[in-house]
Amino acid sequence: PLPADIFPGRRNSAGVDLADPLVREALLADLAGMRERQWAAAPTVIAEGGEPCPVTSPQDRSDIVGDVIDATPADCALMVGRGRAAQAAWDQSGGAARARLLDRAADLFEAHRSEILSLCQREAGKTLSDAVLELREAVDFLRYYAAEARSQFAAPTLLPGPTGEQNWLRLHGRGVFVTISPWNFPLAIFIGPAAAALAAGNSVIAKPAEQTPLIAALAVRLCHEAGLPNDVLQLAPGDGRTGAALTSDARIAGVAFTGSTETALAINRSLAAHNGPIATLIAETGGQNALIVDSSALPEQVTRDVVAGAFQSAGQRCSALRVLYLQDDVADAMLAMIRGAFDALVIGDPAELASDVGPVIDAEAQTALNDHVAAMRAAGRRVWQRDLPASLAADASFVAPAIIEIQSITDLAQENFGPVLHVARFPAEGLAQVIEDINSVGYGLTLGLHSRIDAHHRLVEGRARVGNLYINRNQIGAVVGSQPFGGEGLSGTGPKAGGPHYVARFATERVTCVDT
Ligand code: NAD
Ligand code: ALA
Repeated sequence: PLPADIFPGRRNSAGVDLADPLVREALLADLAGMRERQWAAAPTVIAEGGEPCPVTSPQDRSDIVGDVIDATPADCALMVGRGRAAQAAWDQSGGAARARLLDRAADLFEAHRSEILSLCQREAGKTLSDAVLELREAVDFLRYYAAEARSQFAAPTLLPGPTGEQNWLRLHGRGVFVTISPWNFPLAIFIGPAAAALAAGNSVIAKPAEQTPLIAALAVRLCHEAGLPNDVLQLAPGDGRTGAALTSDARIAGVAFTGSTETALAINRSLAAHNGPIATLIAETGGQNALIVDSSALPEQVTRDVVAGAFQSAGQRCSALRVLYLQDDVADAMLAMIRGAFDALVIGDPAELASDVGPVIDAEAQTALNDHVAAMRAAGRRVWQRDLPASLAADASFVAPAIIEIQSITDLAQENFGPVLHVARFPAEGLAQVIEDINSVGYGLTLGLHSRIDAHHRLVEGRARVGNLYINRNQIGAVVGSQPFGGEGLSGTGPKAGGPHYVARFATERVTCVDT
């Protein structure tokens, strides 16, 4: 573990050391024992009771992982009412008390790591190393926001000034926050925004992605076991219709959403139509992320970072590399090395430790990605694509990883959320134009630069409109507290998750002035 005094008041999760054979073998034995286990998810409060539906595994749709009962509009309305009734007491319990419960939840997440990792693999198709990172990030979010609750919400601030009065500033929860999350970080991004809203003194109704309700149900169960009251954190499984029922309820105080830009815009319209208090929207959305490589870059380092950025997590990270820009005088040599590493990627069932690239989340994503590669081929683009191994399950959501040559980022109509890397070339004097093209697309999430030239660092840093810029490393895996994460423009509203300004955005400020 990291010494606690590096970050006063909190520590990052130690994770699981998969390189240690004893730890690894014990974990693999636990996971093997859970391969048949059945899980369940249901709304925390049920007004009218729906039918359970099966949840299947992306790497083998004949593997039923469990079942889910979706929240109906009546369930959602009941939950909003209960959340409102519970919020004032939760807010008044104070930052220190809330922090204790969030820290306890983090401890329980670590204690139940085998169950969590098993579900990340079976329900979300994550490789074991990705599942371990997911658990670490979730634990880090809980502890980071707990530390924020302690430092910002435990006591009021006495403000200085010339008035001769006592002026107290207090932060309070706003009311009921709805958190809506995607399937690609079914634990970390499910619990992160919820933990921040809770830390600030809100009650929360958490709606997971329809593809991954079971991990979310386990997370909520562990939070309740940690002592969070049932009405303060409620689970609302369901698809976009459940999300829309919650966001259209004028009694909610805000929404923290992570997912596609299109859905964020739909939620924004829904909140604007409220006939009631003005609701807050925090949205973290998609990206069209590039990496620029000039002729001074180190080829081995570039190869490692391109492969991780584009193909780790089967390319299903919002931060993932989508468009690689290679300076044309080194492009052929770089591309040959990248293709060598690309050809060595192991595509396989996430249950196999050797697998580098697992499935995409579902048949819909699989079809969209396959259609994109086919359209690029039909348009005459040069495409390198791997073959899928014959050993994969017959009914599974794998997509053969691909590298596609394009002219510019502006050739792409949308984010392609999977193991597909696009490559463009630029002339030695063309760096400023590349940045302009990247900015023109309107997204602003991650950007990578591989260069040993200081002037290029300054140019990119000065002009790129992105939330997270990575120089001479890969552009995925932001670390909570050290690399606050989030974009701008079409990529989101900010503030950055895992950063010092995040929790305060879930709060409202009140000032009490006392004439002494
Ligand atoms: P999505 O927008 O389809 O779904 C996200 C969530 O919104 C789901 O829970 C879904 O049920 C819900 N939803 C759908 N329609 C809704 C509506 N009308 N009202 C309310 N809720 C609704 O996105 P996805 O496919 O689950 O996730 C992938 C996307 O998420 C990608 O674009 C990716 O870049 C983005 N993402 C961004 C970040 C970030 O931090 N910026 C992190 C992870 C994923
Ligand atoms: N925070 C995640 C990453 O950086 C999305 O990859």
